[in-house]
Amino acid sequence: MQMHKTLGDEVLLDVRDLETHFYGDESVTRALGGISFQVKRGETLGVVGESGCGKSVTALSILRLLPKLTAKTVGGEVRFGGRDLLKLSEREMRGIRGNRIAMIFQEPMTSLNPVYTVGHQIAEAVQIHTKATKSEAMAKAQELLRLVRIADPERRVKNYPHEMSGGMRQRAMIAMALACSPELLIADEPTTALDVTIQAQILRLVVELKERTGTAVMFITHDLGVVAETCQRVIVMYAGRIVEQASVVDLFARPSHPYTQGLMRSVPDRRRGRQRRLPEIPGIVPSLREPIVGCSFAPRCPFAIDICREKTPILRDVLPGHGAACWRAEEVMGA
Ligand SMILES: Nc1ncnc2c1ncn2[C@@H]1O[C@H](COP(=O)(O)OP(=O)(O)O)[C@@H](O)[C@H]1O
Ligand SMILES: [Mg+2]
Repeated sequence: MQMHKTLGDEVLLDVRDLETHFYGDESVTRALGGISFQVKRGETLGVVGESGCGKSVTALSILRLLPKLTAKTVGGEVRFGGRDLLKLSEREMRGIRGNRIAMIFQEPMTSLNPVYTVGHQIAEAVQIHTKATKSEAMAKAQELLRLVRIADPERRVKNYPHEMSGGMRQRAMIAMALACSPELLIADEPTTALDVTIQAQILRLVVELKERTGTAVMFITHDLGVVAETCQRVIVMYAGRIVEQASVVDLFARPSHPYTQGLMRSVPDRRRGRQRRLPEIPGIVPSLREPIVGCSFAPRCPFAIDICREKTPILRDVLPGHGAACWRAEEVMGA
């Protein structure tokens, strides 16, 4: 509604040098090695990269939902609404989560409570965030189920989570996330567990809802195809760092990091209805337990030269608004 007016102007979320570690018995895993990016009001930002590159840890660090005993954000800032979320009290943080920032996860079964009806849970979310009475909240729950295209919402509000299909549960989760009209929705691989047709429906739904509500979306996925369909801008992560960031159009037109190019060549094979990657990028992701010398992608990179193994490349603009962390980005772009 108000989206078109504000899109692209105002910075909603400003993440600076975010650094998160996990502490094991004998080692420290540097899951995030200092990442910086912004989400503008009303935009959809894709966060893409292979499994283990730090996408979920980014989301959990922003929302401060990391396991307390084993993980810590050791540096950086998460600026949202003029404040650094990392400095808020736990109580203030609870006022942000599920209110101004909502999150949906891969497997909605783990986020929905099996002993309450779906309607009850959505109504509860509505009541936490508004002054609605119980019956008003229940009516709102029905309306939200209709909004996310669940047929027969009058009946479905009375369903328990196990009485719904996976796709329907994910829709219900989206309805719950929208109950509070968040300014930012973080969706962490929300369609990965679903079959391809349902995935496409859910993606279309997220795009459509975003356009109607003006909510900014941070869309986390390992699938560049999903990014192309849903996002305006994208950051590409590798081994806990951002290696490329650009508008979706620029990223596909001129991928400037060899890792991004590798990802583009390994588009999933959807014909079989599952996410099989052909071909894989050869080589393995480096251990995050040792400090990385040089570029973390160098061992797998067809462009690597001496400097790549010696000095860590920083993310720099190779075109206006298009950044790459690669010593040879100009040559890679033209390759
Ligand atoms: N609970 C955990 N305990 C220890 N290390 C973790 C944990 N969760 C994530 N990590 C580390 O952080 C890295 C990034 O994980 P994650 O953000 O979950 O990756 P993804 O991009 O697949 O979402 C992993 O490779 C792993 O080394
Ligand atoms: Mg993940």
